[in-house]
Amino acid sequence: MQTDFWLERWEQNQIGFHEKEVNDHLINFWGALNILPESKVFVPFCGKSRDMLWLLAQGYEVLGVELSPIAVKSFFSENDLEPRITNHGDFQRWEAEGVSIYLGNFFDLNAEDLIDCSAVYDRASLIALPPDMRQRYVDHLRTIAHVISQTLLVTLEYDQSEMQGPPFSVNKNEIYKMFGEGCDVECLLEENALDKNDHFIQKGLTCLLESVYLLNKR
Ligand SMILES: C[S@@+](CC[C@H](N)C(=O)[O-])C[C@H]1O[C@@H](n2cnc3c(N)ncnc32)[C@H](O)[C@@H]1O
Repeated sequence: MQTDFWLERWEQNQIGFHEKEVNDHLINFWGALNILPESKVFVPFCGKSRDMLWLLAQGYEVLGVELSPIAVKSFFSENDLEPRITNHGDFQRWEAEGVSIYLGNFFDLNAEDLIDCSAVYDRASLIALPPDMRQRYVDHLRTIAHVISQTLLVTLEYDQSEMQGPPFSVNKNEIYKMFGEGCDVECLLEENALDKNDHFIQKGLTCLLESVYLLNKR
C-alpha cells in the first residue's frame, strides 16, 4: 500500500475508517493493560482519531504518527488544540498539552523517537496494510518500540475474496505468527461486527469478526 494511496484518501475526504465516537474496545479493554497512570501511549497510523483524546482524558500522554498533513491539522483544529510545530528529523512534530504527533512516515521512526513510550494502541493500523507490508510493520514496530511492554490491538477478519482491503482481513493465526515469538498474545474479544458495519455488507461481506488482543512483551 503506497503512501500516495492514503494521502489521496485524505485529500478526497474518503475517511470511512474515522470514527466520530471514541472506540468502544478502547474504553472497554484499556483497563486490561497494566501501565502507570501518566505513561506515554504510542498510536501508530493515528489519523485524527478521537481515541487519542480519550487516552489524554485518562491522564496518559499520547504520541502519534501519521502520514497525512490534512489528518494532523484536522486533529488539532477540530479539537481546539493550538499546535506548536517543530522539525524533528524526517518529521514535523505537532504538539499540544499532552499530545504530540509526528507528521511523516511510520517507517522512518527510530527507537529514540519512542524512548519514553510504555504502551501501543493499534486500531486500524495493522489492518490498514496488505499482507506483504504487515510483517514489515510488525518488524519495524518491534525495532522502534523495544522498550514498550504492552499493546492493545484491534483487528478485523473476513473472507478476503469477498472484499478488497483496506481494511484487510487479519486472522488469529497470523496474529500469533507475527507477534507470538516475542509476546504473550491474549485474545480479549472476538465478536460479530457485521451488523454495525452496513457499508461492508454493501461491499459484499457476509461475515465480519472484530477482535481485540492484548500483547504482553515477554
Ligand atoms: C485506516 S486509517 C486508521 C486511522 C486511525 N488509527 C483511526 O482509528 O482512525 C490508517 C491511517 O494510517 C495512515 N498511514 C498509512 N500509512 C502510514 C505510514 N506509513 N506512516 C504513517 N501513517 C500512515 C493513513 O494516512 C491513515 O490515516
